[in-house]
Amino acid sequence: MTATHRLLRGAIFTCVDDPGEENTPLPGTTRYWDDGAIWIVDGHIQAVDDHAALIGRVPAETEHVDYRGKLMMPGFIDSHVHYVQLDIMAAYGRELLDWLNDYTFPAECRFAEQAHAEASAERFLDEMLRAGTTTAQVFCSSHPVSVDSFFAAAQRRRLRMIAGKVLMDRHAPAALVDDTLGGIRDSERLIADWHGRDRLSYTLTPRFAPTSSAEQLDAVGGVLRNAPDLYLQTHLSENRGEIAWVSELFPESRDYLGVYEDHGLVGPRSTFAHGIHLDDEQRRRLAAEGANIAFCPTSNLFLGSGLMDRLACRDAGLATSLASDVGGGTSLSGFGTLQGAYQVGALLGQPLTGWQGFYRLTLGNARALHLADRIGSLEPGQEADIVVLDPEATPLLSRRLSQTGSLAERLFAMMMLGDDRTVAATWADGRRVHQRP
Ligand code: GUN
Ligand code: ZN
Repeated sequence: MTATHRLLRGAIFTCVDDPGEENTPLPGTTRYWDDGAIWIVDGHIQAVDDHAALIGRVPAETEHVDYRGKLMMPGFIDSHVHYVQLDIMAAYGRELLDWLNDYTFPAECRFAEQAHAEASAERFLDEMLRAGTTTAQVFCSSHPVSVDSFFAAAQRRRLRMIAGKVLMDRHAPAALVDDTLGGIRDSERLIADWHGRDRLSYTLTPRFAPTSSAEQLDAVGGVLRNAPDLYLQTHLSENRGEIAWVSELFPESRDYLGVYEDHGLVGPRSTFAHGIHLDDEQRRRLAAEGANIAFCPTSNLFLGSGLMDRLACRDAGLATSLASDVGGGTSLSGFGTLQGAYQVGALLGQPLTGWQGFYRLTLGNARALHLADRIGSLEPGQEADIVVLDPEATPLLSRRLSQTGSLAERLFAMMMLGDDRTVAATWADGRRVHQRP
């Protein structure tokens, strides 16, 4: 089969390393081309350079795509999101445990039904691509069919996605609870069918400590021990009522994190959503295992859970990723997540620069998910997942950007004012998968 060559012309911004927290990125960490081009061969990036430097190198049959006036970046990454909660976004909140019982669990019950799961998976992926998000680590429901439907839809679109079946064998409606070991067997079947297939990976998904028995958590730890290339995702220390409940349920563990440690769930591929109410000693315990905290700012603000101290994590050597946590989160857009992260940071005296924001949304998240050798930056050999941003998307954005001087100012203003209208197109695996109407 002959290879397909494409050349996407426009401005390009990518991080190749952590730019740091200052207004000027650390030397060598970012790349920008004003009139650049990305040469894509099938699903991979062949070269990124000035358009003038590449135009003479590409073969005659190359398809040329003109994005002059637009800004290309690596596809955005969401490290923690619940596809089964799209229909309850912005359900009149109150706090976590009420919100779970009143809205979340009833919505997830519907995912026993294949037709609902399939239609929801398609709707969710449409929305992700409209927002420029090409990879996510996804909670499905406790029904295996919710996972099969999600992976099948992602596979058809050739997306890099990580997903898993929720495990919970207590403290939830009967229609959602697993048989303790039956849930593990279902997970093993899903791993066999999907993990490592095309661009898909499996993530073991005990919902959170209160909804799994010690026996179930032990069994999850056993699966992880035997297959260290699997991911694991759960929730940790989001809300004070939740933390008090965990200490009642697991009095023998030293603290909430200790429950996960005691069952072998804390490792380099483990993502713990929230991690708001942690002390430095707990942050260091997580860091020592190479785990990451998914910072979910719009969710934390919506549910009033608290302000995640991103720099305290950094100082403890603990990796953080960025996530929407929809349906607790109020925006599926990476821009919405960045705006929330900026606001949380501002309240903690830790404002977020545009450099650091876009780094977190792309390469930072790819690193946290051990995917930086494939996605998260625009470099030769990387998979061609690209978001095309339109600085003229709205009259206001256009006017605001016309008032900026430096790239730092432009990136920051785009970060704070961008939304799904800013996404002109999204590419995945070297093909266009979304085009703004
Ligand atoms: N803790 C346990 N389940 C959930 C959930 O679905 N969303 C959030 N935000 N926290 C949780
Ligand atoms: Zn969540």
